[in-house]
Amino acid sequence: MRKKIIAGNWKMNMLPNEAMSFITELEPYAKNAKCEIILCVPYTDLFYSLLTAQNTNIKIGAQNMHWEESGAYTGEVSPNMLKCINVEYVIIGHSERRQYFAETDETVNKKIKSALNHSLKPILCVGETLEQRENNMQDAIISNQIKSALKGIESIENITIAYEPIWAIGTGKVATKEDANNTIKIIRSTVKELYGDNVAQNVCILYGGSVKKENAKELFSTSDIDGALVGGASLKVDEFAKILESM
Ligand code: 13P
Repeated sequence: MRKKIIAGNWKMNMLPNEAMSFITELEPYAKNAKCEIILCVPYTDLFYSLLTAQNTNIKIGAQNMHWEESGAYTGEVSPNMLKCINVEYVIIGHSERRQYFAETDETVNKKIKSALNHSLKPILCVGETLEQRENNMQDAIISNQIKSALKGIESIENITIAYEPIWAIGTGKVATKEDANNTIKIIRSTVKELYGDNVAQNVCILYGGSVKKENAKELFSTSDIDGALVGGASLKVDEFAKILESM
């Protein structure tokens, strides 16, 4: 059985006091969830969230990191800074980072390697633009993103992959379950090409992009979608709890 994960990506939202209340209120729902639960919170919420989530089954992740351990990189946070406060997961290569902060397949690859070297578990994001989807280029684009991100990486045991079509993020336009499942199958076959069938069958692959309580169950009913990376709908406890119940 593959691992199931529902992860929230709070993006640039939630103050520490809001994060602590959220986690406290989510806890009773989280207890009964049939999947791993991760909240990827802003840096300034990490410490408070980790303390509040202690002794619960809610795991805490960061949304980005630099690949170097230290140095003259104003405004950046290093993998060992995350690790030393017990952060477990880190999102790498989110399309908003690629789009607004000039992240490339090369920097994504460096970050994935560095995260693994520091025993952090990367959530690697890939996804195509609307134009690429309209030109039916998504399979080639996604497969290339996966190959570049994983270049030189021996084991992907600690990596989770998130397929997030850019046109579905924050737009309310969720991918159909068939489209999402088909693209995730392409990801699995790319992983098979690189690491063999056993690894491909075991890697946990999430869908992200306008996941809501209304569409989560349908997405989770497919053969290859192992959970979700949720943006907007992870900011309200009742909405996020309903998504957890859909698994
Ligand atoms: P939305 O769920 O708000 O579309 O965001 C998805 C996302 O970017 C998660 O990383």
